[in-house]
Amino acid sequence: MPRTLKPFEYFEASTVEEAVQILSKYGNKAAFIWVPEPEDESDGVLTYQELYVRVNEFAALLRDSAGVKAGDIVTLHLPMVSELPVAMLACARLGAVHSEVFGGFSGLACGDRIVDSGSHVLVTIDAYYRNGRLLDHKIKADEAIAHAEKDGVKVDKVLVWRRYPGKDSSPTPMVEGRDYFVDELLKEHRGKRVDPVSMPAEAPLFLMYTSGTTAKPKGCQHSTGGYLAYVAGTSKYYQDIHPEDVYWCMADIGWITGHSYIVYGPLAIGATSVVFEGVPTYPDAGRAWRIAERLGVNIFHTAPTTIRMLRKAGPDEPEKYGYRFKHMTTVGEPIEPDVWRWYHEVVGRGEAAVVDTWWQTETGGFLGSTLPALESMKPGSCGPGVLGIYPVIYDDEGSEIKSGSGRAGNICIRNPWPGFMQTIWGDPERFVDTYFRRYCKDPESKDWRDWPYLTGDAATQSEDGYYRIIGRIDDVINVAGHRLGTKELESAALTVEAVGEAAAIPAYDEVKGRVPEVYVSLKPGYEAGPEIEDQVKKAIQQIVGPIARPAHVWVTDDLPKTRSGKIMRRVISAISNFVDVGDTTTLANPEVVEKIRQAVQSAKIKAGELPKELSKEVEEEVKRFGAGTE
Ligand code: WTA
Repeated sequence: MPRTLKPFEYFEASTVEEAVQILSKYGNKAAFIWVPEPEDESDGVLTYQELYVRVNEFAALLRDSAGVKAGDIVTLHLPMVSELPVAMLACARLGAVHSEVFGGFSGLACGDRIVDSGSHVLVTIDAYYRNGRLLDHKIKADEAIAHAEKDGVKVDKVLVWRRYPGKDSSPTPMVEGRDYFVDELLKEHRGKRVDPVSMPAEAPLFLMYTSGTTAKPKGCQHSTGGYLAYVAGTSKYYQDIHPEDVYWCMADIGWITGHSYIVYGPLAIGATSVVFEGVPTYPDAGRAWRIAERLGVNIFHTAPTTIRMLRKAGPDEPEKYGYRFKHMTTVGEPIEPDVWRWYHEVVGRGEAAVVDTWWQTETGGFLGSTLPALESMKPGSCGPGVLGIYPVIYDDEGSEIKSGSGRAGNICIRNPWPGFMQTIWGDPERFVDTYFRRYCKDPESKDWRDWPYLTGDAATQSEDGYYRIIGRIDDVINVAGHRLGTKELESAALTVEAVGEAAAIPAYDEVKGRVPEVYVSLKPGYEAGPEIEDQVKKAIQQIVGPIARPAHVWVTDDLPKTRSGKIMRRVISAISNFVDVGDTTTLANPEVVEKIRQAVQSAKIKAGELPKELSKEVEEEVKRFGAGTE
């Protein structure tokens, strides 16, 4: 292991020649260790040298076989395979913008993103392993393309990696003249080197779509220079990755966490980053710890949902394995203090420094976290703003809520920083409206001090300056750390012929944090029945993806509404979570509430889903849900 490599040395190369010199010195170090899900398959190790070669060859393929050039948008719909970072970096080398769609998303969700970004090239794979099954992924490309074509965007080239090069693992046929196997095309590009296209620091590097308050996901556009600097800096100071460490972030590269902290951040500081194809509980709850033991992982990064899942499936498993973590991260959702303690004491053996990093797709990298080992840890709290980030909490009137007051408010960031997104792709007005309008006192102002960034989260700040993030203030449901917009779920439910109205709400879940439940009322002439519930679940699964599948679909005659006709989601959210529905006298139809409550709660109790004890914060969230849109 090259112990003399300074963490910033890769990043400090300011010319291509310098980068090549650094490569020749350290090229033999592992950049990625790819761990396939089947345990009898061996790891795929990509050294920095090999990564360089493969990125060049794939860049040559993109350029010469698919016509990709600087400024084009390339959609990547790939699971957790090392071909994904190769494709990302090849796009970056050409100055093309990559738009990675989470591999678990449906073909239709991918198609929507193709349309929004106006992308004509799709990079995918024939199949991949998940939960012990080899899933057909190519079929999603066909669905995505057919869907995009209906909306007027034609994909000309589909580049299909193969899970096993030379062998077909998907039954879905290739389309002549459109679909190409990457391993076959690569033969023509063997050994090619592509000069990196020099781009301005402000040129977009990638798009990442995320959910918000409307049915249409927002394409967060991120820059090249600012983003890279920010993820490199935060990987160094908050992930504390040194060249000799083995770092494993068990997130997905299709979400911002993996994008920033599996690929760009760690690579920029010369780390060895583990990429795992599968799920951590397959074939059993010891899998993650076996990987950590075998590879000598010493920095571990995951989400509360996974921690809860691993604790439930095998609370004593970590003790059976001989790994040793010095540093661990939790990210993506609020973590309950007792879950935090299991993570710290059992997974981290009480010796690993835990950081709870709070941030968002929009922000590129961390917003709130403690500095590992330097600032004290506090279960359930992310800590202060990270270096260079100045949060502030405002109440609804725009007055600052001081630390230690115990009151929650809307957490904003006062100042701009390099990792922040540049705009919403194709919709700069929505960008300003969504994130900056709320607390701007002077819309004419050109001074950044007048434009605090609205994160969309509610938070409190304790006397010690640490923030506790409570949850979203908008209509976003955070399911297992994945953001889903209620409107996306509702529009999917409305594609079912019989459904007249739909409302999605979060129900508290021990493992996933929140799971969506959908309430629907039917159009006249349709009868309620299990087949409608089934159709709604299927529609959501097909249009959005399996993670969005509702735990329940409740069919009712009518939904509680305000006098102006808006569905009151907080009322049904209270019902689903067995929380007091509060004052319903302002409703246009208060009589429906009790009927729905009895039907839903007795059905839940019958199914063994008894009322759970909720923390004060969760109860507040439930009672507040959707209030902003009434
Ligand atoms: C939530 C994920 C509490 C929050 C990186 C935010 C968190 C949304 C934390 C962004 C945390 C993220 N503690 N809540 N440490 N980290 N969140 O865009 O509500 O997928 O607004 O980015 O996740 O989700 P996104």
